[in-house]
Amino acid sequence: MEPVKLGLLGLGTVGCGTVNMLHRAGVEIERRAGRPIVVSRAAARDLSKPRDCDTSGIALTDKPMEIIEDPEIEVIVELIGGYDDAYELVMAALRNGKHVITANKAMIAKYGNEIFAEAEKQGVTVAFEAAVAGGIPIIKAIRESLVGNHIQWFAGIVNGTANYILTQMRDEGRDFQEALDEAQRLGYAEADPTFDVEGIDAAHKLTILAAISFGIPLQFDRVYTEGISNIGREDIQYAEELGYSIKHLAIGQISEEGIELRVHPTLVPHRRLMANVGGVMNAVMVYGDAVGRTMYYGAGAGAEPTASAVMGDILDVVRSLGAKAVHRVPYLGFQLNQLSDAPVLPMEAIETAYYLRMEVSDSPGVMAAVTQILAELNISIEALLQKVPEPDQDTVPIIMLTHRIRERQMNEALHRMGQLEAVRGKITRIRLEYFDD
Ligand code: NDP
Ligand code: HSE
Repeated sequence: MEPVKLGLLGLGTVGCGTVNMLHRAGVEIERRAGRPIVVSRAAARDLSKPRDCDTSGIALTDKPMEIIEDPEIEVIVELIGGYDDAYELVMAALRNGKHVITANKAMIAKYGNEIFAEAEKQGVTVAFEAAVAGGIPIIKAIRESLVGNHIQWFAGIVNGTANYILTQMRDEGRDFQEALDEAQRLGYAEADPTFDVEGIDAAHKLTILAAISFGIPLQFDRVYTEGISNIGREDIQYAEELGYSIKHLAIGQISEEGIELRVHPTLVPHRRLMANVGGVMNAVMVYGDAVGRTMYYGAGAGAEPTASAVMGDILDVVRSLGAKAVHRVPYLGFQLNQLSDAPVLPMEAIETAYYLRMEVSDSPGVMAAVTQILAELNISIEALLQKVPEPDQDTVPIIMLTHRIRERQMNEALHRMGQLEAVRGKITRIRLEYFDD
């Protein structure tokens, strides 16, 4: 049978991972697909660069539009990344009637609604398994395997770089920048690593997970996003002493009030599997009303794990070539005209527990003043840790954990405590989730 010809845009970490995988597993993939699959053309910016894959037999260009306009190419695999060029190229590919596979969560989170509308118009597929949690087939699990469930919430470690940094800081005592440099060297980080450390990449992935879990449009600009750059080694250490790990989580939850979409560092009790997901590994916990709690774990970044997800999409797309659009899985798991308009809740309305750390003057009555504010606001304390002052210091750190309250109550408490003369500097607030329901 004639081979399916792929046009590959991007020959970086994931692009080369995909080429290597096709070389290595090509025969087996042909046995699965029923016909050979080849990368016949590929585009990169700088053709003189050495590559981590064998590109012999692939026609290379630095003009990706040539590939998009090539009538022999049926499927475009977009592995360039970023919002702009990638979006223009993908839209052009769809208008040319090509199926598209992408690992680009930034593009899907920001422009997915337009991309899917165009794909539907053209009767072609857009597949994006590698866009969330690297090698974990989480999109397929939620979109296809859990369809009998009403998904009530999910929570995940979905950025490998951030998890790698937090793990290195905790286990190896490395500093933030050193761990980030290493993640970049290993090919985990985004082209702009602030996307990883400021939570933007996790927010892209949360946007996609929320859409396929709750049947809502992609709403990246409604996600509350906080990164890990303000997490100090002392917070990691105090959290550990209290029996928690600090994880960077993406959390989506639906209730009658609306939908929570939030990304932030979170204390997780040591007894939870999630607290034990280390290094570049990702994990997503999904709660469905029928199945209860399920959890998916695996490598969240890197050439081969991500290529593994891209390859799954390639096979799905090749198997469905020639099928009527109505027989394909909808892009977001729900028909585009059936998406719900459930409101996204403001952060003030969410309910969670909190870790607080503050430096206070080492004088009588300070603790009473702090706890009085909490009592007035009906906030009860779960645990309290007061450290011995360092020699020559006139302040002491106080660390406390609260029970679950509304964020608006905590904002008021932080405001009032911040006005106490005895409280020095900014109070650190980290949210805490038990995952016990
Ligand atoms: P890289 O930066 O390693 O590779 C990007 C590739 O795209 C390079 O080959 C670059 O060319 C090429 N490129 C960039 N702009 C253009 C352009 N305008 N025209 C033609 N080629 C272009 O990125 P990654 O492989 O790490 O990431 C690719 C995508 O996969 C991104 O969307 C990323 O978010 C996603 N992803 C990455 C993961 C990872 O672990 N790295 C995991 C999951 C998803 P040149 O080499 O010549 O500069
Ligand atoms: N930079 C991303 C991460 C790549 O570290 O998770 C995988 O999407």
